[in-house]
Amino acid sequence: MSNKFYITTPIYYPSDKLHIGHAYCTVATDAMARYKRLQGCQVMFLTGTDEHGMKIEDKAKEAGVTPQQFVDNIVEGPRGVKDLWRLMNISYDRFIRTTDSYHVQAIQRIFRALHDNGDIYKGTYSGKYCKPCESFWTESQLVDGKCPDCGREVADAQEEAYFFRLSKYADKIQDLLENTDFLEPRSRVNEMVNNFIKPGLEDLCVSRTSFTWGIPVDFDPGHVVYVWVDALSNYITALGFMNDRYDDYDKFWPADVHFVGKEIVRFHAIIWPAMLMSLGEPLPKKVYGHGWLNFGGEKMSKSRGNVVDPYILAERFGVDALRFFMLRTFPFGSDGNFSNEALINTINVDLANDLGNLLSRTVSMVEKYFGGALPGQGRADQADEELVRMGATLRDRYEAAMERYQFQDALAEVFGLIGRANKYIDENAPWVLAKDMEANAPRLATVMYNLLESLRVSAILLSPFMPDSAGEILRQIGAGEDCRGWDSADQWGALPDTVRVERGENLFPRVDVDKALAELEDLRAAAAPKEIEIEPLAEETVDFDTFCKSDFRAVKVLECEAVKKSDKLLRFTLDDGTGTPRQILSGIHKWYEPEALVGKTLVAIVNLPPRKMMGLESQGMLISAVHTVNGEEHLHLLMVDDAIPAGAKLC
Ligand code: ME8
Repeated sequence: MSNKFYITTPIYYPSDKLHIGHAYCTVATDAMARYKRLQGCQVMFLTGTDEHGMKIEDKAKEAGVTPQQFVDNIVEGPRGVKDLWRLMNISYDRFIRTTDSYHVQAIQRIFRALHDNGDIYKGTYSGKYCKPCESFWTESQLVDGKCPDCGREVADAQEEAYFFRLSKYADKIQDLLENTDFLEPRSRVNEMVNNFIKPGLEDLCVSRTSFTWGIPVDFDPGHVVYVWVDALSNYITALGFMNDRYDDYDKFWPADVHFVGKEIVRFHAIIWPAMLMSLGEPLPKKVYGHGWLNFGGEKMSKSRGNVVDPYILAERFGVDALRFFMLRTFPFGSDGNFSNEALINTINVDLANDLGNLLSRTVSMVEKYFGGALPGQGRADQADEELVRMGATLRDRYEAAMERYQFQDALAEVFGLIGRANKYIDENAPWVLAKDMEANAPRLATVMYNLLESLRVSAILLSPFMPDSAGEILRQIGAGEDCRGWDSADQWGALPDTVRVERGENLFPRVDVDKALAELEDLRAAAAPKEIEIEPLAEETVDFDTFCKSDFRAVKVLECEAVKKSDKLLRFTLDDGTGTPRQILSGIHKWYEPEALVGKTLVAIVNLPPRKMMGLESQGMLISAVHTVNGEEHLHLLMVDDAIPAGAKLC
């Protein structure tokens, strides 16, 4: 096994805050990086942000800031990209921003090198451009005249531009895709070959002149480098390729794997290898195109308005549960439909019921039957065989799945052991053995030991997915440093047989489904963009003397009740300071329960002519503030300081 491992995520567009779909790939990469570190590899895990392009320039303009300020805020600012990776416990080794000066310099050198070797030439670009995707398309690639990636309108574009001789590499790329394991899952190979290579690979437009937020072509001012040439190169510039900032290129390149979402496989499996071939550099060993997290059947994306906020979920359920859910529930190569119900179900079934229960039952039984420490060698039995065999061979099966990036399968293996261990408790009924400790203590000790070993091996292998929880499990079962490593994960018996356990918090409390769903809905609604409307200001003026005739008073609510046979009306009995109670009717039942208003100090206009409503007289009007939120009317009664006496005049 090579002792070095270089893995990357795509670098994210900081045009909006990231959502859980973005976190999916980064969590998968993190799990892989942690797994490789666990195995003892020297890992380079790179992530970052892709900060140039017309879209960012436009967004910054809209926000009234410079593009640099705009991206700085989304990358480094509160709840920005780096904050999100901190929250999600992402253990990246390096973070590249394409606005970093060393990258800018390296891109200029790369562009020049491609130009100098004749693979970049000047021509005129005319075609179609999809602004949100920053992608050029030829007429034949459009689907119903629209962008084949996002389905949105494309615009005509014509300008002087540099071109990269992509066509020259068509045969080599086809061979790479068809005859090697370069691109996985293999299902993506056909798509690339049939949709992009066979129809004829055209040269790629690699510079723009119609906007400025990009890396300037240093030998031709006015041109900026096409964002994808800039972005793809991050994988090598971040190691020090053509720059002095880092010095790891020889050590880590070629990358072991680039994890990318399926819609950007095209760039990574065609353009990127062609660029590297042209530069004469080795190709990455693998590009893995994962599926999308969909929501309601559609790709989660800001423009579709169906994004799920990872902060809300992580704060409510814990980061580990969220990380685990994403990789346990969806096969990495295919799309998966995210739902709060599925998340809660995974937490309840796998984490609370299976793993959480196994841990808390085992630790409490060791405490109860042995005062917290096992008494040493116990008595083995045939009944242990299956569990022990499963536990001792788990690491190999897990490893085979992890090496194929099949996180779901790797986790299924671990949960196979956890499920078997729970069954082993029922089969061996420790509570029955404990009834006669004199006779059964050695057997009971073995049963407990095997349960602790199941937990230990499982926790080690879960640690790439749930680093904090796995650490806590190992702590509770008393596993020392020497039996927490990869090597000890296939050594059944590595845990000392006199281990002392230490009970801790309940790691995965069961979630009340209905309550949690309602809470999430409230949080989502609270976080959703609000369109607040207020009534336009009145144009007609009122003369001062007339206005001054209005008599506004502080009034205290003595009684308040719903008017019979009316959905809307509340009947107030008010103290207006005169000693005679005043009755006012107000159509605000939709917003207030009558009991909640008794004792409050409100504002009323008291010199309106009395009006009859539902047969009752209303002697004035209570003052409220009204506005609409997303089309729904909201009303707040004007409440004033209770220290203001009833009858005080407002002027
Ligand atoms: O594509 N489910 O950046 P990006 C799964 N800057 N993955 C998703 C997703 C979802 N709902 N939404 C987004 C870019 N992603 C370029 C990359 S690399 C040299 C340049 C994934 O911020 C998406 O598939 O639009 C992509 O892999 C990644 O997030 C970054 O998307």
